Amino acid sequence: MTEVLCERPETGIAVLRLNRPEARNALSLSLRKQLAEHLNTLDENPDVRAVIVTGDRKAFAAGADLKLMVEQSPMGMHQLRLDRLWQTVAEFRKPLIAAINGYALGGGCELALHCDILIAGHDATFGLPEIKVGIMPGAGGTQRLVRLIGKHRALRVLLRGELFDAETAYAWGLVSELVEPDAVEATALDYARTISGLPARAVEFIKESVLQGADLPLSAALTLERKFSSTPLIRRKGCRRSWKSANHSSQESES
Ligand code: CAA
Repeated sequence: MTEVLCERPETGIAVLRLNRPEARNALSLSLRKQLAEHLNTLDENPDVRAVIVTGDRKAFAAGADLKLMVEQSPMGMHQLRLDRLWQTVAEFRKPLIAAINGYALGGGCELALHCDILIAGHDATFGLPEIKVGIMPGAGGTQRLVRLIGKHRALRVLLRGELFDAETAYAWGLVSELVEPDAVEATALDYARTISGLPARAVEFIKESVLQGADLPLSAALTLERKFSSTPLIRRKGCRRSWKSANHSSQESES
């Protein structure tokens, strides 16, 4: 069965749709592999400029496949090398937009935390409930969450396995935009459309600068930003052309 569908709704945009509705899109091994394969392919495809990751109305993803985890010994789990599959998500160079309805729990929440922009419906529920099944997050949940919402909120969530709603996620700065459940995918497409119309190299460098810089002291991060922004790969000619066309169309829309 195809557990991740890859759709191309518009030029420049790909949608990766997690497709295990009967299991609330729990992250089976084959789903993880298909997701990683699609991301590798899309990363190399210059026609793809932004990627949306989504699930269905009931779940973005309900986390690791607990049935798989019950069957595997700890050593068996270790040998699956899930970290390599996560690495593909973490290293994806183009903007990743999560379009979230329903549950984003455990590994599903961690998948969302890997994304660059999160669009959530009012019906979304987030959480890292691993503690309730006697384990802990293993795909950056304890690290990314604390950087995003701070130690005290993160530990409140992590130590109690507390689920929190979309309004809370938005208030804590975890979600970029909160919309009606029906509007989640259209809003994500809007973001992808805007981004895919902007200069690809600058988009890539901004993402890299933000992600790399977030782990550095400010002075080192500013040096990194200077390095990226002064690279000849962000072409001055392209810059002028983009400025001219933006200026021209804004004058047109004003007249
Ligand atoms: N793994 C495997 N199957 C899952 C699943 C999961 N994480 N979550 C849901 N399912 C399956 C259920 O077993 C059920 O299948 P059957 O009909 O065959 O029994 C089906 O999906 C529907 O589930 P529910 O009837 O429970 O649906 P619901 O809408 O009432 O509740 C839910 C949805 C709140 C997500 C609930 O299913 C739930 O709590 N799931 C577990 C969530 C969880 O604990 N996630 C963390 C996993 S650990 C992890 O992610 C760790 C890591 O990466 C390191």
